[in-house]
Amino acid sequence: MNVLLVEDERSIAVTLGDSLSAAGHKVKTVADGAEAIGLLEKEAFDCVVTDVRLPGADGMEVLRKARALPDPPEVVVMTAYATIEHAVEAMRAGAIDYLQKPFVNEAVVEKLARLEKVRAIGRENVRLVSELGKRPAFGEIVGTSPLMRELFQTIARVAPSDAAVLIEGESGTGKERVARAIHKASARGSGAFVPFSCAALPETMIEDELFGHEKGAFTDAHREKRGRFELANGGTMFLDDIDDAPAATQVKLLRVLQEKTFERVGGEKPIKVEVRVVSATKVQLRKRIAEKRFREDLFWRLNVVPITLPPLRARTGDLPLLVEHFLGLYAKDRRYRVRPEDMEAMERYPWPGNVRELENSVQRAVALAGEAECLKREHLLPMSGEWRGAFEIHDEVRPLRAVIEESEREHLKRVLEKTGGHRAQAAKLLGVSRKVLWEKLRNHGLDTDRGRGAGEDEEGAPGEEAEA
Ligand SMILES: Nc1ncnc2c1ncn2[C@@H]1O[C@H](COP(=O)(O)OP(=O)(O)OP(=O)(O)O)[C@@H](O)[C@H]1O
Ligand SMILES: [Mg+2]
Repeated sequence: MNVLLVEDERSIAVTLGDSLSAAGHKVKTVADGAEAIGLLEKEAFDCVVTDVRLPGADGMEVLRKARALPDPPEVVVMTAYATIEHAVEAMRAGAIDYLQKPFVNEAVVEKLARLEKVRAIGRENVRLVSELGKRPAFGEIVGTSPLMRELFQTIARVAPSDAAVLIEGESGTGKERVARAIHKASARGSGAFVPFSCAALPETMIEDELFGHEKGAFTDAHREKRGRFELANGGTMFLDDIDDAPAATQVKLLRVLQEKTFERVGGEKPIKVEVRVVSATKVQLRKRIAEKRFREDLFWRLNVVPITLPPLRARTGDLPLLVEHFLGLYAKDRRYRVRPEDMEAMERYPWPGNVRELENSVQRAVALAGEAECLKREHLLPMSGEWRGAFEIHDEVRPLRAVIEESEREHLKRVLEKTGGHRAQAAKLLGVSRKVLWEKLRNHGLDTDRGRGAGEDEEGAPGEEAEA
């Protein structure tokens, strides 16, 4: 690969440059950030390896400049040991990986060798995502709502790196699906994907499972046992319900993440593993940190790439597609339908169990449908207790929600007219994030990206958007 090495510390620059050249790369070395930026404008590189603290311009600027190029090189950022926050920031700005100083040069050579492989995979992922407009799913994850599209992009972008990913989302939102998709889209895709849930297990059992034990470690340890981390070597470890990890386990996890080393229970021999860690939580870890139940240093290690999965009720636009998807799974040879008014009722239901609950509902409705052509609402939705009232009333009078939605739509239209269709400005005025605004526009059919020219003019929908 054509490598640009940006490092002001001469000893590192020279030895690392030599190692990379010896490994067959064409290396250019500069000691100044501004000089690096100038070079990026003139020459094409496959990869940039840059320090953070530099004279001229800092490494983050080099990173941003590199990633803004039309055919951006992959960027690996080198940071001092103590500043994991830098690494986190770098990953979010588009770096593919980070190196912690001090490092051995062979580790960098290895990283670049793998990077060369994943660069090809990354290109393929990007190609797939650019086709997503046409395809309503990413691997096994179904969805076309803006929130889901953004998720697909994130998966495609971060999958090839070795960076730790933390997935946050309510029960049944698809966290494990996403973890598997990340694994599959990475260079480790053919390696093992090893899931493990930390929920409701005592510390000793968790550690026995994760790290294994030596023969004779405790009374029943008749033979040595390999832990999940060993099984995941070369692959991906999925730590589910990480918020539930006991304090002592957190310390051990921190060490595996920092040093890629651990010992089996009752053992002294350090075992080295090369594992990518993806973890998931149903509660916000920041809350757990505030309650002093989760280590902040571990949080930073796990949360290099954060992914938040939206609850189903925040993306009801995906409902018809998901229903169709599950009908395909559970009613292969019959073509069942869901009445439009029932689909509307489903859009009003808050789905506390998210996609899993929806999947169960469709499966149940299919099982109970018999000869009927349409699935029954009482099979699709919980028709007992508190919910029955909500749905029945809705069928008789205009519910408050519809009234609120309508006035919200009118208001959005007005603000967009006032800002000349400038969404960023509109979002600011409305006091919501652009993401929220975008979602709302789509839900209200005011999204001109999709419906441009489709009868929107007569409705007075916002004109051509300022941002495409
Ligand atoms: N976007 C999606 N497209 C298709 N199926 C999905 C999607 N999201 C979730 N599912 C399905 O919903 C079920 C729950 O998904 P998954 O196990 O990944 O959720 P989870 O967030 O890990 O849940 P929990 O927090 O309860 O462990 C699975 O059967 C999965 O196949
Ligand atoms: Mg799960």
